[in-house]
Amino acid sequence: MADPSLAARVVEETLRYDPSVQATARMAHEDVELGGRTLPAGSIVLPILAAANRDPQVYRDPARFDLSREGEPEHLSFSSGIHYCLAAPLARLEGEIAFRVLAQRLPELHVAAAAAPSAATAPSRPPAGQRTPPRRAANGRD
Ligand code: HEM
Repeated sequence: MADPSLAARVVEETLRYDPSVQATARMAHEDVELGGRTLPAGSIVLPILAAANRDPQVYRDPARFDLSREGEPEHLSFSSGIHYCLAAPLARLEGEIAFRVLAQRLPELHVAAAAAPSAATAPSRPPAGQRTPPRRAANGRD
């Protein structure tokens, strides 16, 4: 990202593409019709925010990281409704400042193509039970 003016778009598209909060949980307080099924009162629902962010009926070419998106609904990475993230404006501002400064200070920064994982093969985090490999310093020492 060499263009600092893209910082806000980078934040939004990164949040849509691979949200830091992938899912949330809700309980039905009364019987609810959803997708042609009835969820009885007391049911626990696990909305997968990350999947909603890639709904092909909402986003064109949803698996593509695309900074040129226009006129598409807001992603659900800050959730929705009464529990919508209280600090969404703060998080957005911090991200925007960070990306803008990064682009200004390191204009040559780019993705090392060979090391770039594809969205299809790289989960955003290890499967449950699998530990993240330890990080090592460039000199091989921990
Ligand atoms: C990129 C950064 C962040 C993301 C993606 C994020 C995401 C979320 C999500 C998805 C929820 C709703 C959870 C739910 O529906 O059950 C939430 C709620 C909340 N977030 Fe964030 N958050 C971020 C940063 C922050 C920060 C920096 C703060 C505090 C300084 C914060 C404070 C809160 C609070 C207090 C709630 C609860 C709101 C409520 O239940 O009424 N968040 N956030």
